[in-house]
Amino acid sequence: MKNDHATKPAVFIGEGAIRTRVSQLARKISTDYADADELLLVGVLRGCYIFLSDLSRLLTIKRRIDFIAVTTYEQTITMPGAVRLLMDVRTDIAGKHVLIVDDILDTGKTLQYLLQTFQARNPASLKTCVLLRKSERLIEDVQIDYLGFDIPDVWVVGYGLDYADQNRALPYIGMVKTEED
Ligand code: IMP
Ligand code: MG
Repeated sequence: MKNDHATKPAVFIGEGAIRTRVSQLARKISTDYADADELLLVGVLRGCYIFLSDLSRLLTIKRRIDFIAVTTYEQTITMPGAVRLLMDVRTDIAGKHVLIVDDILDTGKTLQYLLQTFQARNPASLKTCVLLRKSERLIEDVQIDYLGFDIPDVWVVGYGLDYADQNRALPYIGMVKTEED
């Protein structure tokens, strides 16, 4: 049986660096939303689960948590990598301050789709918080309001992120080789 520990990915961003950055983000978000009655954090499953859990516990403002799940369609000529909503939020977001929390921005298609979908529901405000961004790969021009780290075009795992559903629970962000390498 294959297991995560047999081939441990090389450390790319260590636990200490993640902790420091997540606290900084939490402090900034808490300051920015200090006057809002409540902040609704919407995590994009599944990659966000550890980041959102750490971030939400460090916030000093009133907040609520909800989740969405998305998937990307198979690439076709008519629909190149279109995004589909698998699970919607339970909350009615109209009039609410919404912060979408995602693990990583690659092409930006997922977040762009979510911003469009949520904007149409008339939130009081809509912002984005992303732990990692592969700026070399960005196709869509999406606005990130809170960013953890800019990284090069490598495949990262751990701290919620996976490769073929492996290594999500690593405490650090590691780098793996993929078939394309
Ligand atoms: P985008 O729509 O291309 O921005 O897709 C971003 C999504 O692809 C992320 O939310 C991840 O689920 C996945 N993804 C992209 N790059 C990586 C990576 O290096 N590690 C793990 N997941 C990734
Ligand atoms: Mg994701």
